[in-house]
Amino acid sequence: MTALLLTACSNEPQDTHPNQPVTKRKAIFKQMLRTLEPMGMVARGREDYERQAFLSGAKELKQLATEPWAHFTPDSNYPPTRAKPEVWQQPSEFTQAQHKLEGSTDQLVKAAESGNMALIRPALNNVEENCKSCHQQFRGKI
Ligand code: HEC
Repeated sequence: MTALLLTACSNEPQDTHPNQPVTKRKAIFKQMLRTLEPMGMVARGREDYERQAFLSGAKELKQLATEPWAHFTPDSNYPPTRAKPEVWQQPSEFTQAQHKLEGSTDQLVKAAESGNMALIRPALNNVEENCKSCHQQFRGKI
C-alpha cells in the first residue's frame, strides 16, 4: 500500500512530509471517485444495474467516507493540497460536512439493500450533492 501511495502522483511534487497526509487523503478521495462513478452510470441508466455489485460499491463508499478526515492534520496544509484554509479555520463546519457525507452514504447502503431504483437514485444524488457542497466550501482550484 505504501509503495502504491508513493508512486500514485508521480507528476506532482514529492510529498516529503512525515506520514504524507496530503498524499494519503488524496488517494482516498480518488478511490471515492472511482467507486462513485460507475454507480452514477447505473443510476443514470447507462450501465446495467446489478444488485450485488451496486451494494458492494455502496458499502465501499460508506467505508471510504470515514477515511480522509484523519489525514487533515493541523500541519498538513502544504502543496500540492487543494484544501482551502477554511478546512483549518472552520473545523466545526468541516466536520459537519463530513457527517453529512457519512449519513448520506449510510442511506445509500440502505437504499442499495432494498434493490429499489426509486430509492437508490435520490440516495445517490444526495451523496453527490454532499461531495459537491463540501468541495465548494473547502476545496479550492489548483
Ligand atoms: C467534508 C468535505 C468533503 C467531502 C464531503 C468530500 N470531499 Fe472530496 N475533497 C475535499 C477536500 C478538502 C479535498 C482536497 C484535498 C487536498 O488536496 O488536500 C478533496 C479532494 C477530492 C478529490 C481530488 C483528489 C486529488 O487527487 O487531488 C476528489 C477526486 C474528491 N475529493 C472526490 C470526492 C468525492 C467523490 C466525494 C463524495 C463521495 C467527496 N470528495 C466528498 C473535501 C471533501
